Amino acid sequence: MTGRIPEELVDTIRAQADIVDVVSDFVTLKKTGKNYSGLCPFHNEKTPSFSVNPERQIFHCFGCGKGGNVFTFLMEHEKMTFIEAVRNVAGRLNIVLPDTSRGQGESSEAESLARVTQFAARFFHEQLLSCPTDSPVREYVARRGLSDTTIHTFLIGYAPEGWDTLIHAARRQDIGADWLEKAGLAKAGNQRTYDAFRNRLMFPILGPGGRVVGFGGRALSDEDQPKYLNSPESPIYHKSREVYGLYQSREAIRRVGSVVIVEGYMDMLSLYQHGIDTAIATCGTALTRDHARLVGRYAREVTLVYDSDTAGTRAALRGIEPLVEAGLWTRILQLPAGEDPDTFVRKHSGEAFRKRLGHPDSIADFVADQFDLSQADVREEALKTLAGLINKTADLRHRERYIEESYARLPVPQSLLAPILRRPKTEHAQPPGSQKTRFEDPERELVRLMLQDVEIAFIAEELVHPDEFTGDAYRTIFQQRLDSLKGDGASGPAALIDQARDEETARIISELTASEDTGADPESRARDYIARIKRDRLKREMAELMKKIHLAQETGDDSLGETLAALQQLKREEQALRRTAE
Ligand code: UTP
Ligand code: MN
Repeated sequence: MTGRIPEELVDTIRAQADIVDVVSDFVTLKKTGKNYSGLCPFHNEKTPSFSVNPERQIFHCFGCGKGGNVFTFLMEHEKMTFIEAVRNVAGRLNIVLPDTSRGQGESSEAESLARVTQFAARFFHEQLLSCPTDSPVREYVARRGLSDTTIHTFLIGYAPEGWDTLIHAARRQDIGADWLEKAGLAKAGNQRTYDAFRNRLMFPILGPGGRVVGFGGRALSDEDQPKYLNSPESPIYHKSREVYGLYQSREAIRRVGSVVIVEGYMDMLSLYQHGIDTAIATCGTALTRDHARLVGRYAREVTLVYDSDTAGTRAALRGIEPLVEAGLWTRILQLPAGEDPDTFVRKHSGEAFRKRLGHPDSIADFVADQFDLSQADVREEALKTLAGLINKTADLRHRERYIEESYARLPVPQSLLAPILRRPKTEHAQPPGSQKTRFEDPERELVRLMLQDVEIAFIAEELVHPDEFTGDAYRTIFQQRLDSLKGDGASGPAALIDQARDEETARIISELTASEDTGADPESRARDYIARIKRDRLKREMAELMKKIHLAQETGDDSLGETLAALQQLKREEQALRRTAE
């Protein structure tokens, strides 16, 4: 993650940095006890919930949840890349860095590719800006109603008509055609290599960190096919993982905790321009679990708004499953026949769209609408589809509400739906963001103590195995904390933030370390959390075994004895655990 600046140097810079000084350039800070506080620059607020901790060298906003170290702050606030942020802080400390601006040979392929896509996005953008107002592309942009602000915010561009304009421009920057090809921006023909995107309006797709990872290019006329040309997969672009518009909308999405998912680039942009700034689009692919997990990092609720045609309806039906499975509270907004979100807001208004967004359909409504419920066999089919979707959630509250909605919408006696619904997967599933987990999740609390106290980190290492964690993020931080304590690099929370595998993990680390732990006797609390984690694990395993036992009894399976013995063993473990806890 640290790219071409040697890791030890980054550690030194981070260790010497003064985060209060850096943040003060942008935010007025006031000393409050050990920390500094001010109005959060990442969301609108009237009373300060943004806090900077000089001792730990991290910042955190208790309002919007954003947090990180000095580098993250510059990356988020000033839209710098990691390298730029490190350079910036180094500059303040008068530390001289080796020149890393050239020499693709030393950098990873992904970094070089990112440099190439970033260059291309800039180039296309400048091309668009320099086109005269009466040029076809400008006229197209005007017809689609895209404003200058939108063009800037989304770095929208134009790939010119020629066969090698991009190739030439790239060469001037020492970027070879082979790199353009790797990024899907050029193609090798029989005679020579040529630009892959020609005479198209270009929509750069940004990863969650703000890097350009790929493009969608819209043809300017109906004769040009395909309508949208998309970048192929590359080491930095995975269609099933990226969504369009998230980088620009993520603050708003996080603030309101819900997201609108649409199908098209233009739908997303049009909504944004009409004041609905919490939309994202999938980039010409079906909605995947990775998409759902990605938006799940920002929001707990989602409304699917797909085109009101057969393809759109089918896509929406398929999109529900990964969303429900990711624990997102899922609704569907159906538009009048033949409309998509773009045509709808342009024809009616943002206000009209917002109004509809306030009354979306339930999953049951939507499913019911797709079937002819007057026929008994079709009705059964509808029920099965619905039960299949509801079964995907491990969130008991959601499950209950989805079921209620089903009874409300489908003309069936309760006894018909109940047997189709399996028992919920986990006993204690709770939505990750709920108040209860927030304060009581033993995994979370243990990790918090581990981050604050080295002793506790080592106690935990001895007593808990990472596999006993159910929360992926906490398991990762648990391991990372121990790895970095035992490694010879920097090991404080600020360093962990840079080593975090993704933005969400980094956010959790900053959140957990931002607030001073004031509770008494951290060690005995840690032991208590550890006991709870173990008890939960034992309960899960026992439930699994019980299931096996029931099955074996039914089928007369001869593994019964073995399973019973295993259950006995778990019970003994549980008793032992209880004794030590008392
Ligand atoms: P649509 O055909 O619904 O187009 O495709 P649209 O979004 O309404 O686009 P405009 O308004 O005509 O410009 C929805 C999405 O499917 C992908 C694109 O991501 C598009 O935004 N798509 C569509 C492709 O990838 N290739 C295509 O040829 C067409
Ligand atoms: Mn459209």
